[in-house]
Amino acid sequence: MGQTRLRVWQISGRGVSCYTNGIKVLLGVSGSIAAYKAADVVSALKKRDIEVSVVMSKHACGFITPLTMQALSQNYVYLDVLDEPVAEKIVHVDLPQSVDVFCLAPATANIIAKIAHGIADDQLSSMVLALPDATRKVVAPAMNTVMLENAATRSNLETLRNRGWEVIEPRTARLACGVEGRGALASVEDIVRAVLDER
Ligand SMILES: Cc1cc2nc3c(=O)[nH]c(=O)nc-3n(C[C@H](O)[C@H](O)[C@H](O)COP(=O)(O)O)c2cc1C
Repeated sequence: MGQTRLRVWQISGRGVSCYTNGIKVLLGVSGSIAAYKAADVVSALKKRDIEVSVVMSKHACGFITPLTMQALSQNYVYLDVLDEPVAEKIVHVDLPQSVDVFCLAPATANIIAKIAHGIADDQLSSMVLALPDATRKVVAPAMNTVMLENAATRSNLETLRNRGWEVIEPRTARLACGVEGRGALASVEDIVRAVLDER
C-alpha cells in the first residue's frame, strides 16, 4: 500500500517552499564539469516526492546556475555563508540539522580535501561540517583520473569512508579532458539509489 504523504506549502522571506513528510535531502554541488548532472539528480528525487535543498560552491555556479537548481528543487539555493536573512536562524548550522541525507554530487577533489580536513570556508563546506554524525552522508566524486589517483585524494576519500561516508564510485569513461579513464561521475540512477539507500 502506498504511503500517504502530507504536503505543506510554506511562505517565508525566502519565498515559497514545498515540504513533504518523506525524507529530506540536502544536495551539495561543487565545481566539476559534471555539475549539470546534479540537475538530473534533483529532478529524479523530486519525481519520488523527496524534499531537496541545494547548496552550491561558488565554482559550481560556473557550470550550472542556481536558478536551474532552484526551479527544479522548488527550494531556495544556498550559496553564500554570509547570506543570513532570517535573524532567528543561522543557515549553515540550522539546515544540516534538519536533513536525513546529505549527498555531495559531483564532489571535486577540492571539496573532498576540505571535508577531510574540516575546512569550512564557504557555505557548502560549512554546512558539511555542521552535519550531525548520525546523518547519512554520500559522496559521488568526479574528476580527472590523475586527480582521483593522486595520493592526497585517495587518502582524503579514505578519511571520509572511515568517518562513515558512503562513496559512490566514479565510472571509467571518456572524460571531459578527452582521456579515457576512471573519474566520471556515477550515473544519476546510482546516485539516487544511494541517496534513498536502495542499493
Ligand atoms: C572545465 C573545468 C572542469 C573541471 N572539472 C573538475 C572536475 O570534474 N573535478 C574536479 O575535482 N575539479 C574540476 N575542475 C577544477 C575545479 O573547478 C577547481 O578545483 C575548483 O577550485 C573547485 O572548487 P569547489 O570544490 O569549491 O567547487 C574543473 C575546472 C574546469 C575549468
